[in-house]
Amino acid sequence: MRLDKLLSHMGYGSRKEVKELLKKSHVMVNQKKVRNGNVHVDPETDEVLVQGELVQYREFIYLMLHKPPGYISATVDEREKTVIDLLADEWKIFSPFPVGRLDKDTEGLLLMTNDGKLAHQLLSPKKEIDKTYYAKVKGEMTTADIDAFQAGVLLDDGYKTKPATLEILTSQNGLTEVRIVITEGKFHQVKRMVRAVGKEVVYLKRLQMGELVLDPELPMGAYRELTEDELSYCLSR
Ligand code: URA
Repeated sequence: MRLDKLLSHMGYGSRKEVKELLKKSHVMVNQKKVRNGNVHVDPETDEVLVQGELVQYREFIYLMLHKPPGYISATVDEREKTVIDLLADEWKIFSPFPVGRLDKDTEGLLLMTNDGKLAHQLLSPKKEIDKTYYAKVKGEMTTADIDAFQAGVLLDDGYKTKPATLEILTSQNGLTEVRIVITEGKFHQVKRMVRAVGKEVVYLKRLQMGELVLDPELPMGAYRELTEDELSYCLSR
């Protein structure tokens, strides 16, 4: 990889700024000053220092985001705020994207990465990774709904969902709090499943994807890198 590209990718500025940095002899490769951004370096084996600081190259990033409502799960949009807007520049330079989608008004666990292969694995329908949601539902959910979810419900487009788990947490004054586990990721799936049994989701939060659990310490809108255990779980899928 070209030295200027590596430095730019690692957050040392635009190509122009990196050129300036090199011109000022601030960059050393394997203990030699390098002023030319054209030179090729192997980020795995060459030692690159900028102003004496070791450049630790990494290709992929993996972030757990506690998505707030009001942001769309996309990387760019002309009108709406996207989940990328929540990230600091030091992460944006890696060009992360969300793994799957949460609706604009849905909160909770969203994995952000630039590792396309991992995203593909986690989203593959074949893997049937559980997605666990907490929802508030207008209307009373019943044991008949539990059975309907277990059998699979018919959505508005004629698709019959795979079996899903519905657990009723509380039910009072026409509002039911539920936990729902689905193994698919159809468009608006939870809302549409609830609608299919005649009720309406008024609040939705994703708590878990497979073994990846939303960190309760993570305030809404905040994010952190996955721990080693979390990452090895994701990579093993
Ligand atoms: N199901 C939905 O209806 N919305 C989401 O954001 C996620 C799952």
